[in-house]
Amino acid sequence: MSIDSETLVQHMNNQLSAIQPSDILAFNAEIANIPGIVRLTLGEPDFNTPEHVKDAAIKSIQNNESHYAPSNGTMALRTAAAHFLATKYNVHYDPASEVIVTAGATGGIYTALSSILNPGDEVLIPTPIFPLYIAIAKLNGAIPVFMDTSKNDFVLSPEQLKQTLADHPKAKAVVLNFPSNPTGVTYRRDDLKALADVLADKPIFVLSDEIYSELTYGDAHVSIAEYLPEQTILLNGVSKSHAMTGWRIGIMCAPKAITAQLGKIHQFTVTTTTANAQAAAAEALSNGMDDAQVMKKEYMARRDYLYKALNDLGFKSAKPEGAFYLFSKIPAGLPQDSMAFCRELAHEARVALIPGSSFGPGGEGYVRISYAASMANLETAVKRIGDYVASKATQTEAN
Ligand SMILES: Cc1ncc(COP(=O)(O)O)c(C=O)c1O
Repeated sequence: MSIDSETLVQHMNNQLSAIQPSDILAFNAEIANIPGIVRLTLGEPDFNTPEHVKDAAIKSIQNNESHYAPSNGTMALRTAAAHFLATKYNVHYDPASEVIVTAGATGGIYTALSSILNPGDEVLIPTPIFPLYIAIAKLNGAIPVFMDTSKNDFVLSPEQLKQTLADHPKAKAVVLNFPSNPTGVTYRRDDLKALADVLADKPIFVLSDEIYSELTYGDAHVSIAEYLPEQTILLNGVSKSHAMTGWRIGIMCAPKAITAQLGKIHQFTVTTTTANAQAAAAEALSNGMDDAQVMKKEYMARRDYLYKALNDLGFKSAKPEGAFYLFSKIPAGLPQDSMAFCRELAHEARVALIPGSSFGPGGEGYVRISYAASMANLETAVKRIGDYVASKATQTEAN
């Protein structure tokens, strides 16, 4: 008798049983075949990569840049990234020893968490949050400690952080993501300084995912690395700022001694990212430093429209100050289980949103609505949601 694959599955990494495939991708696949559905589920810009960036990639291919780049990335891109971050956010990294070009911010999240965490280690994670950190922490056998921020308008307060640290004094790392996916909330300078003050004397890493830093609608973005340069592993990239999600280029920065360790995992998992995509990203971060401004103007108009229109329909949310999401409370009288609500809305109103439960504790009862979609699609979605809400109200009255 030969061994079958079902038997072999039992022999795989135990941690895999602790993680589920992404709810977001599963839900997207589930509703994809509903005819004419408007999807406000996407976590990526609906713009094209700027022409000068594409041209740089074409030139790179024509110049036969088809070989392995240095593992940590080309010096051209590392230098452009360090200059970009210094100019925009006043954080300073040596391109030669403190910058790694990763396979998207995702690659950086994996490299950073696997470099820090041993099995059984605790990692503090404010929720609702982009679920990747939770899955990767669990893959490493670590224990996510959730800090539910839903009672505080989705802002992690210094008090909550302090209390969690007191309860979990051995925590290895805290994850921050701002502007936030899924809430659009971000931290102003004073808020950030107060969080930094809590962390400053603790032997804890700060994994700060600032991938939406170019998409802030109020004050300019401030990086926590400005306050905690020694402790921070900073993640950024071109996916959101330059509409380059498919190019898979992220930027990870940390002090030299930490970067040397991060480079080991990066080297043995990725080797190096695609050479011509790096040439494109170098162009984006040097000659396209302000490329995000045009997109940002458009996102802002959409945010203002959607925020008001949904609010008028009873979907209340904190006004997002960054990224391209609204995180709205499902109004009373509609299904409060966010997955059940999203299924019903998809089938009855042909609008797809992401259930808040996908983003960890504090997300249930909410939906994430992406405005990385055309204004015409947003208007159609609002009309359909309006009709759906009205039909539910009529049904309730009739009962
Ligand atoms: C907060 C956050 N971090 C990281 C990523 C992934 O970025 P990348 O495509 O550069 O891997 C996303 C994508 O949606 C995100 O929302």
